[in-house]
Amino acid sequence: MIKACVIGWPISHSRSPIIHGYWLQKHGIEGAYTREPVEPERLAAFLGSLVQNGYAGCNVTLPHKETTFGLVKPADEATRLLGAVNTVYVRDGAILGTNTDGEGFINSLKAGAPELEIKGSRAIVLGAGGAALAIVNALLTNGAAEIVVINRSAGKSSALCERFGARVTSADWSLRSELLDDCDLLVNTTSLGMKGQPELDIDLHRLDSKAVVTDIVYTPLRTALLNDAARRGNRVVEGLGMLLHQAVRGFELWFGTRPSVTTELHDLVARDIDPEYGK
Ligand SMILES: NC(=O)c1ccc[n+]([C@@H]2O[C@H](COP(=O)([O-])OP(=O)(O)OC[C@H]3O[C@@H](n4cnc5c(N)ncnc54)[C@H](OP(=O)(O)O)[C@@H]3O)[C@@H](O)[C@H]2O)c1
Repeated sequence: MIKACVIGWPISHSRSPIIHGYWLQKHGIEGAYTREPVEPERLAAFLGSLVQNGYAGCNVTLPHKETTFGLVKPADEATRLLGAVNTVYVRDGAILGTNTDGEGFINSLKAGAPELEIKGSRAIVLGAGGAALAIVNALLTNGAAEIVVINRSAGKSSALCERFGARVTSADWSLRSELLDDCDLLVNTTSLGMKGQPELDIDLHRLDSKAVVTDIVYTPLRTALLNDAARRGNRVVEGLGMLLHQAVRGFELWFGTRPSVTTELHDLVARDIDPEYGK
């Protein structure tokens, strides 16, 4: 029996067990994927005893992503740059860590907006937190020509830009509606619009009708930003896609089979988020 889990503090909200449980069943793999609450003081001990406790690895969520980076061996250059780990796995006795948020974002975008040519595109990224860093890096890796990062705290957006070359610039939060001309892709990576948080206040009237709009917030499934954009006729991509696609690599690393993000899986998780979904 192969075992994996998701660790965080708290962890009861995590939907990863639904995703991996679905794939385990789909592929007839004798495995288990559980939620493990791990207090910050116990993180190092938990990771240190992964093998001893029979785990092939784990997902890592708040508040452990950055601390885990310092406790495992970064598996690739992108993870080193991000300084945060969301997927841990064991290879030849070593505990390795990687970050799959960037590929989750890109693969969700490719699935939800196949007509979007990321190569050569101009993107606007709202927010400059951990998710924004992974997304900016992934967009650059996929050939985006220009990325403007707009964040409430200007110091954080300029610090993010300094990590990349001239293709990434920052702009003041007050300009978020004005800079939408010539934008091919608008991404919300702030927590605004999330259940229990204030709405994202942005006026989309300058946005080209061909621009793609995506929000990585997935509670609710359709944020006000996405509803607004869809009403104007823009293609929208929901945040749930990123959550599902970021899980693919972990499953492959632990259980040895690359799973697919199916409509059935999407609907299963969507119903967990919103019991009214599809009714
Ligand atoms: N779909 C997925 O798979 C996925 C993956 C990762 C994250 N997420 C979601 O993405 C969101 C961001 O995650 P994160 O890890 O990047 O968080 P984070 O590092 O805490 O960053 C939060 C961002 O939101 C901004 N923000 C928060 N409150 C704001 C407000 N009232 N007005 C303007 N900006 C505000 C922050 O701006 P300041 O710098 O000014 O504070 C910062 O840019 C969360 O909702 C998370 O659940 C989704």
